[in-house]
Amino acid sequence: MTKVLLSLHVLAAIVAVGPVTVAASMFPPAVRRAGADAAGVGTVRLLRRICRVYSGIGLAVPALGFATASAMGVLGDKWLVASITLTAVAAGILIAFVLPRQDELLEQLDAGQAVERSGTARLAMFTGIFNLLWATVTVLMIVRPGSTTGA
Ligand code: HEM
Repeated sequence: MTKVLLSLHVLAAIVAVGPVTVAASMFPPAVRRAGADAAGVGTVRLLRRICRVYSGIGLAVPALGFATASAMGVLGDKWLVASITLTAVAAGILIAFVLPRQDELLEQLDAGQAVERSGTARLAMFTGIFNLLWATVTVLMIVRPGSTTGA
């Protein structure tokens, strides 16, 4: 059972977090290129949709993570508590800064307003922090410092 849960957890991380990383990273340059071009705005809209939909699917990652952890009896382990904290911070940055800022920039494009470079740079910064956090969680999940279970 643990193996099934762990497989689903890793699968969810690849399928959901991967697309969010790519689409969110492409978003700021896509906004800068879009300008008044309708096709460019369409690309930005698609990237925003990918971020939204796959962030929702990404909720399966911590859910399956908790299920795996309780099946393995490692819920109190320090590496896991650190991972859970970093996952929560990453999710918070995505929900509080990245997704709302994407919406604002898309609204500006839809309204035909000029998008300032500082606006996309700020979004790129939060997106970078989000990516760095979950990449750190992935390394923690694999290295599991201090763990006596597994390799
Ligand atoms: C609340 C958040 C999370 C919890 C409770 C959790 C829990 C777990 C547990 C218990 C394992 C098994 C470790 C072992 O084999 O001893 C695991 C493995 C793994 N997790 Fe998570 N996880 C969480 C978030 C994440 C996130 C955000 C990612 C990546 C985006 C991730 C990626 C992985 C990977 C790649 C493995 C496989 C490591 C390996 O077996 O070498 N996890 N996770």
